[in-house]
Amino acid sequence: MVDLKYIGHSAFEFKNGDKAVLVDPLVSINPKYNWHEQPITDILLTHAHGDHLGEAIEIAKEKDIEITAVAELAGYCAEQGAKTKSVGLGAWIKYSWGRAIFLPAFHSSALPDGRYGGSAASILFDIDDVRIFHAGDTCLTGEMKTIRELYAPQIALLPVGGNYTMDVEHAAMAARWLGVRSVIPMHYGTFPEIQADLERFAKLISFGNTSCQILNPEEIKS
Ligand code: NI
Ligand code: MN
Repeated sequence: MVDLKYIGHSAFEFKNGDKAVLVDPLVSINPKYNWHEQPITDILLTHAHGDHLGEAIEIAKEKDIEITAVAELAGYCAEQGAKTKSVGLGAWIKYSWGRAIFLPAFHSSALPDGRYGGSAASILFDIDDVRIFHAGDTCLTGEMKTIRELYAPQIALLPVGGNYTMDVEHAAMAARWLGVRSVIPMHYGTFPEIQADLERFAKLISFGNTSCQILNPEEIKS
């Protein structure tokens, strides 16, 4: 069984028994989330932008765990003193809590010092036979139809804030193309330019077979 916790922005914790993985850990956005007390065994990053890198390096160092990211970003994290697992897009990677595969996202990726951060990614998780698609930052792409055919995700975590990513209209289309039964909107409201009309999103989603679950930070879904 997987417990899915929305921390805020694009940060999530997936817990499977006594193991937990953090994705895009901008944990500073949610003072109620105490990462020190969580049994985090891995950190996975979709791309290098600061709102996704978050506190990854600090957490990895304190817990002595690996950050998994595409090679350029993993290299940067290693330079900062963190343990890393350097990967590319397209191959399953096995973990103690399940497996994950990095997939294409249409977005840029720069390191904090301005160097190229490698390909931006979406990440598909397979934890106890629950398949969760974390889109990272991306526009709507036809890849999502392929992802449905290849991986059949049940839950999608989709950016809805627009400006840098999909907006609510395109995210609703993405949910349909992915064929998911649940969708959790993310990457909205954090900055003035990424406001989203979640009521409209819920209406758009309800035309399909998906149920729109809108989680607030710290809520847990099993
Ligand atoms: Ni970004
Ligand atoms: Mn972002």
